[in-house]
Amino acid sequence: MLSPMDGMKQGTPGSSTEPDVHASPLTLARRLRRRRAAPWVRDLVREHALLVSDLIWPVFVREDDDPADPVVSTMPGVRRLTIAELVAAATDAHALGIPALALFPVIDASRKTPDGIEATRPDNLVCRAVRALREAVPGLGLICDVALDPFTSHGQDGILRDGDIANDETVAMLCRQAVNQAKAGCQVVAPSDMMDGRVGAIRQALDAAGLTHVSILAYAAKYASAYYGPFRAAVGSAAQLGAADKRTYQMDPGNGDEALLEVALDLEEGADFVMVKPGLPYLDIVHRVKTRFGVPTFVYQVSGEYAMLKAASAAGALDYKACLLEAMLSFKRAGADAILTYAAPELARWLKEPR
Ligand code: PBG
Repeated sequence: MLSPMDGMKQGTPGSSTEPDVHASPLTLARRLRRRRAAPWVRDLVREHALLVSDLIWPVFVREDDDPADPVVSTMPGVRRLTIAELVAAATDAHALGIPALALFPVIDASRKTPDGIEATRPDNLVCRAVRALREAVPGLGLICDVALDPFTSHGQDGILRDGDIANDETVAMLCRQAVNQAKAGCQVVAPSDMMDGRVGAIRQALDAAGLTHVSILAYAAKYASAYYGPFRAAVGSAAQLGAADKRTYQMDPGNGDEALLEVALDLEEGADFVMVKPGLPYLDIVHRVKTRFGVPTFVYQVSGEYAMLKAASAAGALDYKACLLEAMLSFKRAGADAILTYAAPELARWLKEPR
């Protein structure tokens, strides 16, 4: 019988019979530690890096007289900006090299209706913000969300009929919203509503309005996620939504293959770019989408992901900067071409600093 000690030298520590730690070197053709030995070599062999040109900054815009607290309490560093503040912030972001902003309006409750018709009005908050930004910072890309939730009195992304979101009726409204925003001057419309057939319908509506140059960024694989909490509080849709959820249109977190089908359909219907959302819990989806389709694939590090990092660092549990940069690299490694993140300006500043 072999005992676990058989074949091992025995002895007390410090005695001459202890195992010889200076034994002859292992014969290894490959020692991966050689390429990790110093910063210069780690820099040379690194496969992925975050660039400022990867970043899209989601911003909240509010009315001048909005009584809401401009600070989003669960998202330190994030504020709801008036149009004038937004123009200043966008000018800085553009100077930092951030290619594009994604706009989210905080609509006054008095303008919210069951059908969200405010979304289609040429003088609504989003359109005024877009016009101001295009004039002040013409080189900056503007992405407008297409979904009704900031505008509906019930906080859903579509129109409610008998307790359900009416798909085709909603799509008709989304087409009007998209054309309205495109006419105001945004270069990209981004349907985040997850209605069936909306990308194709929006493409047709844009083209019919002579807006063939406007692109569509499809939130193709958007999950019914609990990580959107801080965003819903920020735009004020949480109060409207109450205990209701969005599971009849946003994707079930248990599904992966279905995300590929969503992406395939959106591409067939004319999406120029596709997005996976949220980010970190869905890295596998980012990777599968990029690998399968080879199209521009964006990922959204959503409000809850940002809030978690901030909260953990405030509690002294994590190093915010290091963890944020690590999350960014994970998106790049998974195959993302661009990343929506509330930390975009912060990241852009760090990327500029000499090391
Ligand atoms: C609205 C929309 C949401 C987000 C972006 N667009 C919320 C939702 O679907 O309820 C979430 C973004 C975030 O959490 O940062 N259609």
